[in-house]
Amino acid sequence: MRSGKDEASGLADKLKKQFAIRSREFDISANWVKDEKLISAHADLAGKPVGKALDLCCGTGQIGRALKQNGWDVRGLDICRDMLLASARYFPGLEGVAEMLPFKSGSFHLVACRQTFQFLNINKVLSEVARILAPQGVFILSLTVPFSDIDKNWLYEIHRLKQPLLLKFYTTQDLIRELEGTGFLIKESRTLTVRESINRWMNYAPELDLKIREKVISMIKHAPAAYKKIHRVEVVNGEVFEDWNWAILKTTLHKK
Ligand SMILES: C[S@@+](CC[C@H](N)C(=O)[O-])C[C@H]1O[C@@H](n2cnc3c(N)ncnc32)[C@H](O)[C@@H]1O
Repeated sequence: MRSGKDEASGLADKLKKQFAIRSREFDISANWVKDEKLISAHADLAGKPVGKALDLCCGTGQIGRALKQNGWDVRGLDICRDMLLASARYFPGLEGVAEMLPFKSGSFHLVACRQTFQFLNINKVLSEVARILAPQGVFILSLTVPFSDIDKNWLYEIHRLKQPLLLKFYTTQDLIRELEGTGFLIKESRTLTVRESINRWMNYAPELDLKIREKVISMIKHAPAAYKKIHRVEVVNGEVFEDWNWAILKTTLHKK
């Protein structure tokens, strides 16, 4: 029988492999990666630079890049070495896992983590973020989430199919509950939408079987009417487009 530790390291290995395959084309794999409105929302919420910032699970480093431009002293951390090679264009990074951060307690004034919580052990990561934050430090967490209960179930099925390594699917309320339950206070919450081409998203998921990629496109093209309305699903010359909803939460710790 596999222990919890074996399962966690099995998942970590699979994530490393998947993101190594995607790293070279990650920046063009979906609009959200380099969407300036989305990136600026993170940088705005971070506020004035007051010291060290960590781009947690930094990928190719787009969030850290914007923070650095604003004057933050940025470091990155990612499980995948190939991603770190890309983020090294902007700031220094370390290979590691978010569940066990190789940093001293109280060493960062800001931690930002975009679009990765679906893969992580949330309790371990939140307790590590709380540990490495300095007094009055800020944690920014963002994720694509359902717009409402109307699209929630269909979207969950799409994400489950698209991402076999998905550990958990969150709504904004789930994220707030998890954060508040582990001592974080929500200071500000923003939502915004980014329009995506589903065909493009699937073209840049080479690890998936062609049949799965076609099914994801079909599930959006033939989604229930209420889902299509809320996501503004549109087919142009055979290409499927829809809106994705982003939640960006700015938090601080209760007791620091
Ligand atoms: C969807 S990408 C998002 C990258 C980046 N945060 C961004 O917004 O552009 C997820 C990233 O998380 C990394 N990752 C996944 N699980 C991780 C873990 N347990 N610890 C550290 N990094 C992890 C992956 O290697 C990948 O670079």
